[in-house]
Amino acid sequence: LWTPARIVEDAIARVRETVGGDHVLLGLSGGVDSSVVAALLHKAIGDQLTCVFVDNGLLRLHEGDQVMEMFARNMGVKVIRSDSEALFLDRLAGVSDPEEKRKIIGNTFIEVFDEEAAKIEGVRWLAQGTIYPDVIESAGAKTGKAHVIKSHHNVGGLPEDMALELVEPLRELFKDEVRKIGLELGLPHDMVFRHPFPGPGLGVRILGEVKHAYAEILRRADAIYIEELRAAGWYEKTSQAFAVFLPVKSVGVVGDARRYEYVIALRAVETVDFMTARWAHLPYELLEKVSNRIINEITGVSRVTYDVSSKPPATIEWE
Ligand code: XMP
Repeated sequence: LWTPARIVEDAIARVRETVGGDHVLLGLSGGVDSSVVAALLHKAIGDQLTCVFVDNGLLRLHEGDQVMEMFARNMGVKVIRSDSEALFLDRLAGVSDPEEKRKIIGNTFIEVFDEEAAKIEGVRWLAQGTIYPDVIESAGAKTGKAHVIKSHHNVGGLPEDMALELVEPLRELFKDEVRKIGLELGLPHDMVFRHPFPGPGLGVRILGEVKHAYAEILRRADAIYIEELRAAGWYEKTSQAFAVFLPVKSVGVVGDARRYEYVIALRAVETVDFMTARWAHLPYELLEKVSNRIINEITGVSRVTYDVSSKPPATIEWE
């Protein structure tokens, strides 16, 4: 009988058989797939696993700390955290084209990952959170994620004769199965059922040039939005929801004072396959609350808008 417990058992046995006593490296992003792989490998091979978590400065509020807390502190997984915000923002300075930004973020990630990997002794395997849909669709510029590393699995900093072999324990599983085994492995419900987050992160949710100050505003606006969605029971009813930073200024007024500040757009969609999507018909009361909170609590935002575009033709992300 197919049960999450059996799948986990089977996957653990296979991983042990495959890697034996060798050391395994994993790029941990905090997303569902890499998190489930981390939990699975930790259970299978314990200290033979080392994770590298790259904080590119484009993550959500407190996300880096949460990843470390969960894996390093609670579970005892070996995680190397690379705080690389300065490097990423430096590379992104002056760049506003979305595809160009994606390329820079992807390449910088590989560079940082390689550097960290090169410091770890005796690694033979690279683990990846590839799932079955990744296997069938493969490539595709905008679906990226693990493919970034995959296309580069002879991790650069390591000697030639130490090219890494791939271990992909989720390769035969669909997303809902990955979630079930995540729960089976003890990962919290909220993390296992989190909305997808793109590899380039806030880099494609800050329109045009990425700046630290913009990212700070966006992180806080997004956190308020998600908090209120969860409180209202709408997080589970939407497939993906997030805030977008628009680097345009709009006039507002608080008391007697005129404000001339930035604009935040809210996006929420319902979709099954992410190829087409309908904008979510969130209740006005919820939108009102989110809008008030964002404008009142965040200096630098004078206006909030709600995106009523469906896909096609509008993509889910704004860039
Ligand atoms: P679009 O915006 O194309 O997004 O309608 C469809 C789904 O893909 C995600 N997405 C990305 N994921 N790297 C990723 O890992 C990317 O560059 C990227 N661009 C879009 C998007 O969040 C949505 O879930």
